[in-house]
Amino acid sequence: MKFYNIGSLNLDYTYFVDEFLKPGETKSSLGLQISCGGKGFNQSIALARAGASVSHGGCIGAEGDRFLERFKREQIDTEFIQQTTEKNGHAVIQVNGEGENCILLHGGTNQKVSKKLIDRMLSSVEKQDMIVLQNEICHLEYILEEAQRKGIKAALNAAPVSEAIKKISMDSVEWLFVNETEGSAITGCRETEPEKILDCLTERYHDTGIVLTLGGNGAFYGRRKERIYVPAYKVNVVDSTAAGDTFIGYFLACMSRGMSVEESMRYAAMAGAVCVGKKGASDSIPRWKEVQGLMSTR
Ligand code: RIB
Repeated sequence: MKFYNIGSLNLDYTYFVDEFLKPGETKSSLGLQISCGGKGFNQSIALARAGASVSHGGCIGAEGDRFLERFKREQIDTEFIQQTTEKNGHAVIQVNGEGENCILLHGGTNQKVSKKLIDRMLSSVEKQDMIVLQNEICHLEYILEEAQRKGIKAALNAAPVSEAIKKISMDSVEWLFVNETEGSAITGCRETEPEKILDCLTERYHDTGIVLTLGGNGAFYGRRKERIYVPAYKVNVVDSTAAGDTFIGYFLACMSRGMSVEESMRYAAMAGAVCVGKKGASDSIPRWKEVQGLMSTR
């Protein structure tokens, strides 16, 4: 089984601050880190580090060569990466003293992924494979429609939620990943309790496995009436960027190894916990050996 990630590729400009900027304020950051990121990129790295076979498709700009180098190092296939002269997608990220982040996106090349590239990539996907998506690239609806038509299963991270994603058919979505805010936003659910938000999601997306991530409060799984909860592993949070992406990559890779949903969630939670304990996005995603070692001593 192979994962085909049609995913975002952002240059992350991460500024470390004591507190997030307030409206009208100017202040110096405590440090800057420039690295490869994007939910798509991070999820491919997490999948590969968890031992899965991955092909990444997407679009980079003239300054995007570093993505190709990173993918090569992680043994991720780059056959479906297009390079244009446009400005690469990027993110301006503030990380505060508590390790929380806020992220401003510029779509750039992520909004230039062509239907031609998508068609070419989807024609390589076989029935046992899975496509991986986030809402940071264009043509999401088209990809899901084509996947449905071809009988290909998809895993979708609904972030960042947009008006368009609320109306998209999830018929081909095997796994939907959301946090509480995203879960409420896409269903229009007014509940605040995670269990109730999950009920809204499972009612709306009846045949889809929903993974509701709650950061430091763990994660829920629901499909129809089935429910599973796993707690988060407690760690000192240094930088929470890419923790959700790490969780998703590890969860999918563990499922593809034949593990149960619950065990896959536990491994994913451990990988996410390691990620938040270090500075940076994709750089802090752990490798399988480390996660497996920690799981065997838990
Ligand atoms: O989930 C973290 C990612 O969100 C960052 O790498 C940033 O690029 C944004 O896409």
